[in-house]
Amino acid sequence: MGGIIRLKNAVKEFNDGKDKKIRALDIDELEIGKGEFTVILGRSGSGKSTLLNVIGAQFDLTSGDVYFEDKNYKSLKDSEKALLRARKFGYVFQSYSLIPQYTVYQNIELALIIAKSKLNNKEQKNRIKECTKLVGIDGLLRKRAGNLSGGEKQRCAIARAMVNDPEVILADEPTGALDVKTGEEVLELFRELNKAGKTVIIVTHNTAFAEYADRLIELSDGKIIKNE
Ligand SMILES: Nc1ncnc2c1ncn2[C@@H]1O[C@H](COP(=O)(O)OP(=O)(O)O)[C@@H](O)[C@H]1O
Ligand SMILES: [Mg+2]
Repeated sequence: MGGIIRLKNAVKEFNDGKDKKIRALDIDELEIGKGEFTVILGRSGSGKSTLLNVIGAQFDLTSGDVYFEDKNYKSLKDSEKALLRARKFGYVFQSYSLIPQYTVYQNIELALIIAKSKLNNKEQKNRIKECTKLVGIDGLLRKRAGNLSGGEKQRCAIARAMVNDPEVILADEPTGALDVKTGEEVLELFRELNKAGKTVIIVTHNTAFAEYADRLIELSDGKIIKNE
């Protein structure tokens, strides 16, 4: 018990396109505490993105269990899982995953729509403004995402991740495409979100993140080889 996220005997296998199976994830036990800043390390192909996707209920395990606040994902209907994904988790990716022809505002608004936000129109507007202010891009609301710099795109993605006030931020190499200075600024944003109480789980090779982490997890061939 305890722990906002828990995995138990969690196995995820993929087909390799022929008739063989790849065991991308094989975790006996993992518990992540509420409010923790967790950094996930490991070589390319070690299962880092798979772990984030399993935690974020993006796909089902092949076997084993994953829990959010003691709720087993297996007990959720697809519609419940979709709302869990949209409301409890905020996602940030290396490639930003913004819609380039949408404005900053529209990109963030989309996350409210997907989460079937209960805020009224005015509250939604205020919320979007609040989140963009938090990351310093409130002056860019009407700009198309495709015309932003890399750093601005990632700030927009972080604002989008925050708009539904999620419990957990999941970030997959969020500074991988940024220069060192911009990467540091983005790190600082994650630190602030964490200080404000968000549980942050980040895949990164950036050693500055690792220094700040409450917990460091290293994966190799889908297994945890370090958890400290
Ligand atoms: N959708 C998929 N289909 C087939 N194999 C996959 C898929 N996603 C990941 N894999 C495989 O699972 C393993 C772990 O991948 P991944 O979690 O993306 O690693 P990492 O993020 O650490 O680079 C790799 O061998 C990868 O090729
Ligand atoms: Mg990856």
